[in-house]
Parts: sequence; structure tokens; C-alpha cells
Amino acid sequence: MKHKLSHYVGNTPLIPITIGGFTVWGKAEFMNPSGSVKDRMATFIINNAEKNGLIFKGDTLCEATSGNSGIAFAMLAAERGYKMVIIMPSNMSEERKKMFEYYGAELIEAAEGDFDEAIRMRDELCYTNEWFNCNQFDNPLNIKAHYHTTGPEFYNQYKEVKGEREYPAVFVAGTGTGGTLMGTDKFLKEMWPQMKSVAIEPAESPVMSGGEPGLHGIQGIGDGSKFLVDLDMVDEIRMVSTECAKACARHLAKNYGLFVGISAAANVFAAFQWLRDNGETDAITILCDRGERYFSCM
Ligand SMILES: Cc1ncc(COP(=O)(O)O)c(C=O)c1O
Repeated sequence: MKHKLSHYVGNTPLIPITIGGFTVWGKAEFMNPSGSVKDRMATFIINNAEKNGLIFKGDTLCEATSGNSGIAFAMLAAERGYKMVIIMPSNMSEERKKMFEYYGAELIEAAEGDFDEAIRMRDELCYTNEWFNCNQFDNPLNIKAHYHTTGPEFYNQYKEVKGEREYPAVFVAGTGTGGTLMGTDKFLKEMWPQMKSVAIEPAESPVMSGGEPGLHGIQGIGDGSKFLVDLDMVDEIRMVSTECAKACARHLAKNYGLFVGISAAANVFAAFQWLRDNGETDAITILCDRGERYFSCM
């Protein structure tokens, strides 16, 4: 019997969003137990550490995060009896900070927008205190989590509605660590070699496009993309401005009942733009988390 909340991570619905003749199929990751796509990576890493005897009840786990990963790890820590320390740049939403508190995690703030500093602090604290470093940014298990779950789910769900011979023209995903994009894309391209993939980054922080990191409002993406993203695997990089993403988030809530977060809206916006530019009809993407997490930033 599935008696733990974390047993219900994944197997999220695939929701069609249609405008004219274009359909973007969004994977409703906000329906994961802690409310975001990050439950997949966190559960995979913790299950693996437990299986290999790397962590035991009462141990301290530590992660640097822009929010959702911290919330996912904090949920698991509370469920399974670990202590959780989260290092986060100070400009992330108040809602996220409150959630850590409710889950009983300890929050340490790094300088505004400074992800590298948060990661440095995490590594030093883990080394000094012998804490378990969840290490989402460098961890192959982050990619594997999506290769083994998100990818196969997209494949089976899409075939179920559209038929055996159909495949989406493109998979679109914003990149934080890049784990979602890399793992899902790898699986789907093995199944559908003609499918394209597009990485999304904030226009104000176009790191993958060769620009400088900058402050932006699409929380969860942009900051760590240099870590797991292999640009040779990606067909295109697109930028979305914070303003466009926020406008799209409002539109999705009002017109489709999809109250999703800002990065989810950036994905949907870019997916429709790609379909229009390429004369294709169907895209798949990730609805990373819920809109409630961003009231204070909208
Ligand atoms: C809101 C949100 N969107 C998108 C992502 C991107 O996920 P990944 O780290 O797998 O690239 C994240 C990850 O932190 C996120 O929190």
C-alpha cells in the first residue's frame, strides 16, 4: 500500500491548452505533493541516498535553492525524520520562506540574486558539519529522475490521447538546474527522434545565450542553467521577459483556470510562440508550480 505522501510524486495529468489551431500540452507538475516539479528530483535523490545507506533518520540535509527544491526537500525531511537546512538568495518570494518555516526547515539567506554564493555556502557548511549535500546542480540523479519518470509519462500520455503514430513537434522547458529539460528530452528523443527541444531562460538573465546573469522575476529558472544543460542536446534557446511571463500567468488563470507560477507561464508563452514561428500544431511543456507561490511578486 502507498502509505507515504511522497509515494504520490509524479503521474501528473497532461492538460491541453488550445489557442486557434495550436495546442500546448502542459504537464500539471503543480499537482505533486509539495506543489512543484522539484518533488521528482528530490524524491529520487533522497530515495537513492537511503537505499545506499548515505543518510539515516536524524541526519541533516542541506541544499542551495531558489525555492521549489528547498520546499520539496523540506517536505521529504519532515516526512522521513531528517533536519533540513536551506540556503537561498534573499530576493526569492516570501511565500517560499514561510513554507520552509512551516516544514520546520532552517533558512540561511545569501546575497540577492547570488546563486554562486548560496552554492559556496552550502558546500562549506556540508563539509564542515558533515551534512548530506543534496547537490541538485551537479547531480546526475537530477537528470535520471526525469529520464525515468517525466519522460515516460509524457510519452505514454501523449500517445494515449493522440494515437501511436503522433508525436509533438517540440518539448519546451525553462532551465534552473537543467535537470527537467535534460532528462525528459533524452528519453523523449529516444522515442521520438524528430521532436525538437527548446530551453527557456529569462530575457533579463540570458546566460545560455551568452549574456550576463541579471536580476529577473521568473523564479526557478535562469540562475543555475550552466550546471546540467548540455547545449549540444538542445535545438534552440529562447528568452522570455519577466513581464511577458507574468502577463501569460494571469491569462492562463483567467481563461483556462490554470493558476500556475511565472516559469510555467514562460514555458507556455514560448511554446505557443515556437509553434507559430514554425508552423506546427502541438508542443509539450512543464507547468512547474502553482501561482499562489508568487502573490507577493505579481
Ligand atoms: C518554478 C520553477 N520552474 C522551473 C524550474 C526548472 O527546473 P530544473 O531545475 O529541473 O531545470 C524550477 C527549478 O527550480 C522551478 O523552481
